[in-house]
Amino acid sequence: MKKDLLHLGELSREDFRMLMDRALEMKARRRLGIVDRPFAGKVMGMVFDKASTRTRVSFESAWARLGGHPMFLSTGATQMSRSEPVKDTARVLSRYIDVLVIRTYAQDLIEEFAKWSSIPVINALSDRFHPCQILSDLLTVVELKGGFDKLKDLKFAWVGDGNNVAQSWINAAGVLGFSLMLACPEGYDPDGDVLALAEERSPGRVKVVRSPEEAMAGADVVYTDVWASMGQEEEQKKRENDFKGFCVDEARMKLAAKDALVLHCLPAHRGEEITDGVMESHPELWDQAENKMHMHAALLDCLVNK
Ligand code: CP
Ligand code: NVA
Repeated sequence: MKKDLLHLGELSREDFRMLMDRALEMKARRRLGIVDRPFAGKVMGMVFDKASTRTRVSFESAWARLGGHPMFLSTGATQMSRSEPVKDTARVLSRYIDVLVIRTYAQDLIEEFAKWSSIPVINALSDRFHPCQILSDLLTVVELKGGFDKLKDLKFAWVGDGNNVAQSWINAAGVLGFSLMLACPEGYDPDGDVLALAEERSPGRVKVVRSPEEAMAGADVVYTDVWASMGQEEEQKKRENDFKGFCVDEARMKLAAKDALVLHCLPAHRGEEITDGVMESHPELWDQAENKMHMHAALLDCLVNK
């Protein structure tokens, strides 16, 4: 049976551990200059309906450096833009390529691709989830906070919109059982079914509050993201108003643990969800971005070569 990565709720604790271990191993080999070619002779297709710098480049780079050929398929240049049904496109692409990475709006579209494809399908962001992001973010936390088994003892704070990135964090907290407090303004809570699944798996570990200060108090990891995600550009002004007081700034950072990590999936809007000063004093943000490449290599290896 082929395996997909559609959201993190479908992974087990052991899946997370295996991906972290594999990513650390692949990163170390790359640091030593060892050239591995696990994807030689294979093709990765990429369908991106939304902008991307990090996810696209890190997937392409990981695949190419490990011997594979990446093929970027912009929707407008394929028959998908002329309404070819997903079930036809998916079955045809499955005959040509070895794995498909998709970034789009509707989670259902990615799930439909997965249903009709005979190759692994990877969710590279939908309006609902961003699973690859949280896998690589956890890799950064594992590296900087003492290993995989320490995760369950850490306190994670989310400040901002209960969006796709937040919902993947909630999925991960449900499986791994770490403490996650999300500060969201009223009207911007994560979806109830996502919260309910985490509550069922790890009761009492995920909480939604209204105060960034409450979420950040004593936090080991502080995470934020843009107030208006891709596709919500016309809500920017309203959101700037609704998210007042939800900035990760120097004063609020004093509430977090002294050695707290600051993470952001990027791109960041300095002066909105985070200040320039906080960003420039947390270099782990760049390790976080780098780790997307190592985690994508591990994920592709686990899905394509196993
Ligand atoms: N973090 C992230 O997914 O960045 P991109 O939108 O640049 O891919
Ligand atoms: N929540 C953001 C994440 C970007 C990586 C968005 O969906 O635009």
